[in-house]
Amino acid sequence: MTEHGSYLRSLERSRQSLTREDRPDVFAMADREWDLLDGVFAPPFSATTGVALDVLGLTGDDEPRYRSGGSFLEIGAGTGIIAVSAALAGCARVVAADISKAAVRNTELNAQRHGVGDRLRAVHSDLFAGLDPAERFDTVYWHSNFVLAPRDYRYETEHEAAYIDPGYQAHRRYLAEAPGLLTEGGSALLQFSDRGDLDLLHDMADACGHELVVRDRRRFLEGSGEELEHILFEIRG
Ligand SMILES: C[S@@+](CC[C@H](N)C(=O)[O-])C[C@H]1O[C@@H](n2cnc3c(N)ncnc32)[C@H](O)[C@@H]1O
Repeated sequence: MTEHGSYLRSLERSRQSLTREDRPDVFAMADREWDLLDGVFAPPFSATTGVALDVLGLTGDDEPRYRSGGSFLEIGAGTGIIAVSAALAGCARVVAADISKAAVRNTELNAQRHGVGDRLRAVHSDLFAGLDPAERFDTVYWHSNFVLAPRDYRYETEHEAAYIDPGYQAHRRYLAEAPGLLTEGGSALLQFSDRGDLDLLHDMADACGHELVVRDRRRFLEGSGEELEHILFEIRG
């Protein structure tokens, strides 16, 4: 489905999430408590973060998508809940990147809160641009801002980047570059949604000579009561 028209609804979701009176400073998820800073994507208002933890095998009995004892790069870490959970689950080296400075601070706070600051590095980065170009990972993962916005849209707040991607410019770069950051046998993963433009995503993967393989899909009710599907793709190529 083409969601160009619905990016305005996503912007409204972004605004509401920032200003809701019940926005907490600390929230509970995955049997732990987490700090939530102003301006950062709020897991308590969206079922999608819980789905991300499930599909990665970081909660429950699902097959782990990370290599225990290995390295894990999360793009778009937000509060850091996924990256910190990966470190707690046994990943020896975790890098958590986000384009939002508030998200980087938030991830550092949660890494300290859960005692994994020694093996998790939070980095302010537009996708891979701020990383050490020589560093490689067993798993590269992004729970992305999968709603397509017009190419010329300019973010008004950092928080909007958690929801929409103008012209899928970030997705295009992620699809092209993520497989190049892998160790031998590693996997580059993208968590996408049926609220995004799946046809365009496949066309962009084709254009860079990569294949999208479905590793998991989950239907669930979003906070709004709307049914959504999230799809975990592996980018092969
Ligand atoms: C849907 S949120 C997911 C947050 C967190 N991983 C979670 O599941 O709660 C998407 C995240 O991607 C980040 N992001 C968007 N564009 C980015 C880019 N070009 N580079 C790095 N991070 C980006 C946003 O700031 C946001 O934190």
